[in-house]
Amino acid sequence: MATKEDFFNHIEKGYTTKGEHIVMGAAMLNGEAVTNAHVKVPLKTMNRHGLIAGATGTGKTKTLQVLAENLSDKGVPVLLMDLKGDLSGIAQASEGHPKIDERHAKIGLPFEPKSFPVEILSLSEQDGVKLRATVSEFGPVLLSRILDLTVTQEGIVAVVFKYCDDNKLPLLDLKDFKKVLQYATGEGKAEFAKDYGRISSSSTGAILRKIIELEQQGAELFFGEKSFEVDDLTRVDENGRGYINIIRLTDIQDRPKLFSTFMLSLLAEIYGTFPEQGDSDRPELILFIDEAHLIFNEASKALLEQIESIVKLIRSKGIGLYFVTQNPTDVPDAVLSQLGLKVQHALRAFTAKDRKAIKLTAENYPDSEYYDTKEVLTSLGIGEALVSALDEKGRPTPLAATLLRAPMSRMDVLTDTELKDLISSSKLVKKYGDIIDRESAYEILNEKIEKAEAEAEKEKAKPRTRARKSSYTRQNPVIKVLTSATFIRGVLGVLKKVIR
Ligand SMILES: Nc1ncnc2c1ncn2[C@@H]1O[C@H](COP(=O)(O)OP(=O)(O)O)[C@@H](O)[C@H]1O
Ligand SMILES: [Mg+2]
Repeated sequence: MATKEDFFNHIEKGYTTKGEHIVMGAAMLNGEAVTNAHVKVPLKTMNRHGLIAGATGTGKTKTLQVLAENLSDKGVPVLLMDLKGDLSGIAQASEGHPKIDERHAKIGLPFEPKSFPVEILSLSEQDGVKLRATVSEFGPVLLSRILDLTVTQEGIVAVVFKYCDDNKLPLLDLKDFKKVLQYATGEGKAEFAKDYGRISSSSTGAILRKIIELEQQGAELFFGEKSFEVDDLTRVDENGRGYINIIRLTDIQDRPKLFSTFMLSLLAEIYGTFPEQGDSDRPELILFIDEAHLIFNEASKALLEQIESIVKLIRSKGIGLYFVTQNPTDVPDAVLSQLGLKVQHALRAFTAKDRKAIKLTAENYPDSEYYDTKEVLTSLGIGEALVSALDEKGRPTPLAATLLRAPMSRMDVLTDTELKDLISSSKLVKKYGDIIDRESAYEILNEKIEKAEAEAEKEKAKPRTRARKSSYTRQNPVIKVLTSATFIRGVLGVLKKVIR
């Protein structure tokens, strides 16, 4: 039987870190925390992504809060996708509680209540920094993925982008894009066919229907200007603490398409903007996605592939993605296999399916002579989790059932007044406040169509004027003679002679 001392040495050795790190709590043996057997995650490997999983009420969101606060404290900015609206409390210090003191005494870590610099962002009508992106920033490939288009339809989208590029038609919002699509098979059909090939109206019709579907989820609020600059996510406050950016997504749960559209555009934009990091000692930005099953469950195959490839590539830019979800099986295997930090809270074994999930989950953790992983998975208490991280050399740390530290900030949400005050004092809210609808494809094409129609009107009007004239000439014998064919021929004959 392993002694407590062996275990302490095992943990201490496995979690030695030279550089900056986050203490998550103390390792537990036989269900009891071993004081000072600290479980540490090095900042150096936090760009290697992570997973926080476990049944409802086991402490996943609080673990997210603990990681976010401690990253901020170390100067690393954070972005939180808050789907349930329970994270705003980070902007206020914890009120403290005897139970928290007890927890921290067991861990061997002083408890320091603190508030953190918070920025509130929003994708919808809710207050906060408005997040927007233009259709052209989105690009034809991403837009086609989001709309789940066929290869033919994707080709049309690419041509439409090319046409707009060639003709200096800015594609800002969905209104612009729809207008160009309609134009390509309507008024501008001939022009399009000449330079870009014929486009079938049944294909553009199908694309338009997909856009309308996206609009029904409120996407027109997201597409447009002023587009959000992702550099604004990496701000640090006057004390050198990273900003915790909270995107409130409480009203987006029933709009999964909008959510995945936004997620994908954000990741692509971050990937395109941030420089390569090389071998860095700390991450640039950490993203947490609470209730992550919402993006994976509703995502199309194409979208999933896009997410998978971004997950693989983005860590070289110093960006870490952390998924928070009930069951690890919610996350696609290709993503799961990329994760460095795993924090597994308790799972419940109610059904046969649950037991199967537990078995699968246990198999994904390194073996430990100190634990029966399957057994531990079902017996962990609230605010306790199985942790496995990567050490500074990128090797997996020993598996540790961990009594997790408590958040230093408030575990509850902000009051309405606190939230209002926070938002009204934000500089970014002002920067991105107004919706700009400058002249873009929609207006330019409308003008072009109007002009063409006016021309056509004039053309149509011409024969009518001639008709009026001819009725006048018919009445006037002098004019009749002057314009008659024989008279003109006669004059021309005279002129020719004169010229010769
Ligand atoms: N690390 C922790 N320290 C102290 N209390 C915790 C901790 N984690 C969870 N709790 C308690 O458990 C409750 C549920 O946690 P929560 O993170 O909301 O669960 P989940 O997100 O898994 O549904 C919290 O409101 C808090 O009272
Ligand atoms: Mg939660």
